[in-house]
Amino acid sequence: MIHAEVARDVADLTTRGVVPGLTVVLVGDDAASATYVSGKEKASRSAGMSGATIRLPATTSQAALLAVVEQLNADSTVHGILVQMPLPSQIDPDTVIRHIHPRKDVDGFHPINVGKLLIGHTDGFVSCTPAGVIELLVRSGVQTRGAEAVIIGRSNIVGKPMAALLMQGRSHADATVTVCHSRTRDLSAHTRRADILIVAAGRAEMITGDMIKPGAVVIDVGMNRVPDATRAQGTRLCGDVHFASAVKVASRITPVPGGVGPMTIAMLLKNTVRAAERSLH
Ligand code: GUN
Repeated sequence: MIHAEVARDVADLTTRGVVPGLTVVLVGDDAASATYVSGKEKASRSAGMSGATIRLPATTSQAALLAVVEQLNADSTVHGILVQMPLPSQIDPDTVIRHIHPRKDVDGFHPINVGKLLIGHTDGFVSCTPAGVIELLVRSGVQTRGAEAVIIGRSNIVGKPMAALLMQGRSHADATVTVCHSRTRDLSAHTRRADILIVAAGRAEMITGDMIKPGAVVIDVGMNRVPDATRAQGTRLCGDVHFASAVKVASRITPVPGGVGPMTIAMLLKNTVRAAERSLH
């Protein structure tokens, strides 16, 4: 549904002379990153966007990557730049993020965009996964206003921007937000209070049904590959929520794969369309 909306916006911009362009930069050969990047590539192409993936070797220096980013900043056909994380250890991710022009930062990782999100300015870019979670809640008719929202995980990519979004004083937000993390005492005491439980901790199946309030809405942001001898390839993908027990307690729950992941990509495309639109003014 969102993809159709994005494709329509892309077609509209194209007739106005601007083809939204997204360039993804992938450094190294991390298998999970390669999978995510090819998903982003396919989605942007099928929406009618222009774009490319720049693949650089794992030995790329920070200076070489910054030079690529600067070239993309200066290229008027590139509206969105995404440098896939994680980066190899010789490269400091924060330095790279600060080099991406904030108006092309469709990941919403630049400090300018993070700051705008926190203070409630809506002219910046919001990190795609948290934006996708809000979109899922809105499109499913879940009331966030006044709800107890509990977030597990405090990453810059998901947990922190998720909290910032949900605490804003506007519709589709206005929740009472709790952020839990690895040092939280008595995690279950928090999760059992949640009307909306958002799990982005990166620990396979850590949230079980007994930790969930009956009727809660559960959003699983986890994406973990775990051993599974019953599968041909010897592994399977799972979330941070133990689906089989949680599904019996929750009123709604997102599956892994197929829940939040596609929404993240949809938000990336939406951000790129916005970046292209803004280039017209
Ligand atoms: N790695 C995992 N998620 C993301 C994301 O949303 N953006 C980027 N750039 N890297 C990621």
